[in-house]
Amino acid sequence: MAQLRETINRLEKQVSHLRADTKELNAQMEDLSGKLHAKEATIQDLRSTLQDRDSSIADLENTVAENKATILDLEAKLREGERMRKVLHNTVLELKGNIRVFCRVRPLLGEELAGVPGDDPDPQHIVFAFNCISFIELFFPLQSILSQTIRGPLGKGKYSFHFDQVFSPSSTQSVVFEEISQLVQSALDGYQVAIFAYGQTGSGKTFTMEGVQEDLEQRGMIPRSVEQVFASAEHLRQDGWKYELQVSFLEIYNEKIRDLLTNSKDQEVKHELKMVSPNSPEVMVTNLTYVKVNSPQQVFGLLKKASTNRAVAETKMNEHSSRSHSVFRLHLKGFNSVTHEKSAGCLNMIDLAGSERLKESKSEGERLKETKNINSSLANLGNVIMALANKDQHVPYRNSKLTHLLSNSLGGSSKVLMLLNLNPREECFSETLNSLRFATKVNNCNIGTAQKKTK
Ligand SMILES: Nc1ncnc2c1ncn2[C@@H]1O[C@H](COP(=O)(O)OP(=O)(O)OP(=O)(O)O)[C@@H](O)[C@H]1O
Ligand SMILES: [Mg+2]
Repeated sequence: MAQLRETINRLEKQVSHLRADTKELNAQMEDLSGKLHAKEATIQDLRSTLQDRDSSIADLENTVAENKATILDLEAKLREGERMRKVLHNTVLELKGNIRVFCRVRPLLGEELAGVPGDDPDPQHIVFAFNCISFIELFFPLQSILSQTIRGPLGKGKYSFHFDQVFSPSSTQSVVFEEISQLVQSALDGYQVAIFAYGQTGSGKTFTMEGVQEDLEQRGMIPRSVEQVFASAEHLRQDGWKYELQVSFLEIYNEKIRDLLTNSKDQEVKHELKMVSPNSPEVMVTNLTYVKVNSPQQVFGLLKKASTNRAVAETKMNEHSSRSHSVFRLHLKGFNSVTHEKSAGCLNMIDLAGSERLKESKSEGERLKETKNINSSLANLGNVIMALANKDQHVPYRNSKLTHLLSNSLGGSSKVLMLLNLNPREECFSETLNSLRFATKVNNCNIGTAQKKTK
């Protein structure tokens, strides 16, 4: 019996432990089931967040697709805008005339100012109209030492001229460039462009074309054009255009061509003018250096090289550079990867030899030959332009190396700018008058409608 009671006690203790355990487990179960509910609620929340996200993503995908379509549309509109810009730009230039003449008078400098009242760098005998940027008037200089000798035949008084643009001595390089930058743009658009600096020795042709390279303000038209070409080519990239640019630089001295970019010391290398092919009007120069360029800095390096090459010739022949024509050429080939258009333009920038007349320069011997060559090539340049203006059957391109070389860039399919440079000294009066008359003849020409070269 006692044994049975002991067993019952032990079992009751075990039951009581089990009850406590069960209670504990129940409490744990309740806790866990609470947590489970919480997690389920969180999952539910996450599911609905996910659904929201999915629909946001779908919305965004729609927006992206719509934006892509808008971008394509805008790109097409941009290309159309660019095409319209080219057409309008060309129309503007055509309305202005495909041959234009600008006139620039440099300031009196250094010793030239001696005796000038108030050191005024403006000449007294040249007058610029205040309200008209295309008018220039030349007065016979009463003070001039020439007045006794040439008063009669030159007539008395005053000579008035109109050009597309007249730049007074205070005009900066950047003001002049503003006016020619449109032509530079045309070369990128696939046109042949020729810019000539014409004028007597010391009138500022080289200053205008090349300027002072190290001085940003005084840099001339060539470096400024080069920078514009690279900047515009970069800008046109967004329309699918890619350009390949090549530079050549030569001079024509006594009707002989010299390569200014050559590495060769051999002065005897012959450069001839040849047709590119029997059916093409294009003329090429044999053995000439063409350099592919990728940056303005690279071109500036070539300009330095050219002036070193010219300086070498200068020491051998006095004042060689002012007695030769220099021709800087930038060939621009463009390809549009979107529209598959092609363009081939060329920018020619020519620093002509001094234009003084034979009787003024009192030349003899070798100098006489040089002067005759210069005069006949400049006169021929005038004749070529005149023949083109008159639509003559025969254009005398081949009468001089310069016009023969440029025959492709001087015709119905090109844009020509003559930049007439004038020396402000009174002593230069008769040369100034002569230059103004030459430029007026050129200004009265209009060489047909330019054709864009596309392939
Ligand atoms: N607009 C100008 N402002 C300041 N200086 C100028 C200007 N134009 C020309 N000059 C200076 O006048 C001088 C003669 O100019 P430049 O050498 O350009 O003449 P050029 O016409 O090229 O002469 P050449 O036929 O002998 O080569 C140079 O010292 C040049 O720096
Ligand atoms: Mg010069």
